[in-house]
Amino acid sequence: VRAGRCVVAVDGPSGSGKSTVSRRLASLVDASYLDTGAMYRAITWAVLRSAVDPHDAESVAKVAGETDLEIGVDPQAYSVSVDGTIVDREIRGPEVTGAVSAVSAVPAVRALLVAMQRDIIATAGRIVVEGRDIGSVVAPDAELKVYLTASADARAQRRSTEYATDLTATAADLARRDKFDSTRTADPLRQADDAVVLDTTELGIDEVVTQLRSLLDSRVGS
Ligand code: DC
Repeated sequence: VRAGRCVVAVDGPSGSGKSTVSRRLASLVDASYLDTGAMYRAITWAVLRSAVDPHDAESVAKVAGETDLEIGVDPQAYSVSVDGTIVDREIRGPEVTGAVSAVSAVPAVRALLVAMQRDIIATAGRIVVEGRDIGSVVAPDAELKVYLTASADARAQRRSTEYATDLTATAADLARRDKFDSTRTADPLRQADDAVVLDTTELGIDEVVTQLRSLLDSRVGS
């Protein structure tokens, strides 16, 4: 892939393989990587730290506006910090996971983070961005849009392995978040009309990355 602007948008539900695939693809084509879910999680961590109710939209928006959020874009070593504290581990914990859907449904939070994401994309130029609304809202002009899915069982299995959590509880939590994330009014999880849809239930990570790489090469030349 040649130098110059190249944005790859990777959307899909939790456990679809987005993170692993996006990071690998970014490393492979020497691009930056942005995990937008980590940004929503970091704001959620700040909300919980302030002892604000995640369902109190007004207070959540206030905390978000006062939070100094920083996120790295190196696919091999990216890190998230809130007001100078690294929160990489904390944002994957059950408290944040349980509250992140409510926080990410607040329009003011989305407006803030979408603006930040667009700045990061403009600065990076070549970047793989993963999330729920990247192809539809954040970067509708992305050179390649991918929508990854997998069966509910496969996604719960992957998440429970990745986060070392109980499979039944993980499956229930995923189902709850999927429903919430795709039915909220502000930028719901949605497949962009021009996205390439890949079902990863039966595909290995390497296979998905290889397919995306060749798609990218055919779009932008290599
Ligand atoms: O990908 P993840 O599980 O780390 O995302 C955490 C939550 O953030 C998820 O429940 C939905 C939300 N999210 C969002 O609303 N928009 C994005 N672009 C990324 C994540």
